[in-house]
Amino acid sequence: MHNIAIIPGDGTGPEVVAEGLKVLEAVSKMYNFEYKTKTFNCGGERYLKTKETINDAEIEELKTFDAIYLGAIGHPDVKPGILEEGILLKTRFALDQYINLRPVTLYNKEFCPLKDKNEEDVDFVVVRENSEGLYKGMGEFRNKGTLDEVAIQTSYNTRKGVERCVRYAFEYTRKRNKRKNLTLCGKTNVLTYAFDLWQRVFDEVAKEYTDITTDYAHVDATTMWFVKNPEWFDVIVTDNMFGDIITDLGAMVQGGMGIAAGGNINPEGVSMFEPIGGSAPKYTRKNVINPLAAICALSMLLENIKEEKAAQAVEAAVISIVKTKLKSLGAGKMGYSTAEIGDLVIDHLK
Ligand code: IPM
Ligand code: MN
Repeated sequence: MHNIAIIPGDGTGPEVVAEGLKVLEAVSKMYNFEYKTKTFNCGGERYLKTKETINDAEIEELKTFDAIYLGAIGHPDVKPGILEEGILLKTRFALDQYINLRPVTLYNKEFCPLKDKNEEDVDFVVVRENSEGLYKGMGEFRNKGTLDEVAIQTSYNTRKGVERCVRYAFEYTRKRNKRKNLTLCGKTNVLTYAFDLWQRVFDEVAKEYTDITTDYAHVDATTMWFVKNPEWFDVIVTDNMFGDIITDLGAMVQGGMGIAAGGNINPEGVSMFEPIGGSAPKYTRKNVINPLAAICALSMLLENIKEEKAAQAVEAAVISIVKTKLKSLGAGKMGYSTAEIGDLVIDHLK
């Protein structure tokens, strides 16, 4: 029995999660596994009523599940940062989900904004460190509000934190078994403390993985290669901030936020899976948002709870409809409603 926590969240989150849960129900019957869910009410609506984001009891309870399925966090009436920090980052940190795994896969070249690139050219995975760096919230104001104000924001990188991320990336590259190439994305020419550590750890761990070839790319150059030569990449490992930035570009290269999913992974604990686009308030309750990113997140969740066959079946169904049915991956342009896409995925499950 799999025990799955659901956080539908804000905006279009509940709609896309509902489609994911329809698919989960269908695939559980097909592959004979049982699960139960519990929904957690976290997000802007609750915050506006109670000033509460997620409380400690809920965090503790989340630790008892097999996985967490998240819709989206972000509300137009709540000041930016409160819900993101209070719910999403709090959960990532409290559950020590130190990896943010973000596959960038093009399922249909018609939806790729890059000229002359095919499905096989856009097929890589970003392993983003998810617990440290600039996201640690370290820093200070000096002389706040005066003309002499200084705002300091520190990137915090521990040897242990960097090493566990780099090791995960090497292991993942081996298991993925494609080009067996791992690129470190950094900024060694400017961030001479943080990426000096990253580079040293990367080179040291690489010695244990002689079956894997390695590369290094500065983050600015990485964004250039994503557009010019995405086929160069297999797996990329990077810090929290750079990982955040390059995976939005990655999402566009794979066809947009409508299809981009990610996992906040604690390899020794409870992981959380989410579509990486936001809560898209303007599309809320219009039945136009693309639920495929959430359905791809479900596929990652299934793999994480060791329902690999079900995970593959969901991904295959997504590929099939993206190749043969959808007019676009963008909200309102798919040629189908949100709920119809969920039904289509279920029809294409084998
Ligand atoms: C993401 C998001 C979050 C992040 C925000 C909402 C805090 O952009 O998951 O990429 O910066 O990590
Ligand atoms: Mn982001």
